[in-house]
Amino acid sequence: MIFIDNLHSNSKFDWVKNMSQQLTIALSKGRIFDETLPMLAQAGIVPNENPETSRKLIIDTNHQDIRVVIVRASDVPTYVQYGAADFGIAGKDVLIEHGGSGLYQPIDLKIAQCRMMVAVRQGFDYRKASQPGCRLRIATKYPHIAREHFASKGVHVDIIKLYGSMELAPLVGLSDAIVDLVSTGNTLKANHLEAVEHIADISSRLIVNKASLKLKYNLIQPIIETFKQAVAASS
Ligand code: ATP
Ligand code: PRP
Repeated sequence: MIFIDNLHSNSKFDWVKNMSQQLTIALSKGRIFDETLPMLAQAGIVPNENPETSRKLIIDTNHQDIRVVIVRASDVPTYVQYGAADFGIAGKDVLIEHGGSGLYQPIDLKIAQCRMMVAVRQGFDYRKASQPGCRLRIATKYPHIAREHFASKGVHVDIIKLYGSMELAPLVGLSDAIVDLVSTGNTLKANHLEAVEHIADISSRLIVNKASLKLKYNLIQPIIETFKQAVAASS
């Protein structure tokens, strides 16, 4: 309730409130929205609608000055970078791929945890196929991450950009391997694939527009503090 206290009792907040527009939070629906809700609630922010059932892209909250915009997970950094949202929550996968420029990234929220992996068809001789100097066809939603990973191994790659269902690509001969996220491993298993290389541990981060942090400091800083406390309490 730190944030609610600030809303009502902090005179600095009143000053900023007079000066500033609304506070806009960019979230993707699904796992990030679901896992963020309890943290927002601890900051005293409760969205008025569930984006899974509403077609609205701008969702009001219990505070008239705070709203949530619902965007694709991979678009969250773009909205925050350009200031269309003051802050948002994005996976490290999305942030690495985006480049993270112009974004302040104060907290690893430790939500939506998974691993970025290379995976192949069960039985595929990846060790042999990924020797330095070899050439591999890689299907992925993450071309920059994949390119860097294989460049560091000295393996040549042809990258095939996909937008989902990466696991299908090796099964139908579109690629030799995929670079994708793995959590339980159930999707790989169900499609007779196996993870063969770990690229990075992934979780979601709070990202803040740098200008918003300065101009709306008294609004944003209590939220950052509350999120920090929520992460500390859950770890
Ligand atoms: P887009 O709509 O842009 O294609 P998406 O479908 O990947 O994005 P989500 O599936 O909601 O969006 O994933 C959002 C974030 O959650 C990802 O960027 C990643 O950081 C994390 N994530 C993805 N898959 C998993 C998973 N299976 N388990 C845990 N976290 C995951
Ligand atoms: C992600 C990822 C894998 C799956 C891995 O897809 O792209 O397909 O999760 O999770 P698992 O190891 O627990 O099976 P998601 O569920 O986000 O679906 P998407 O294809 O819409 O991105």
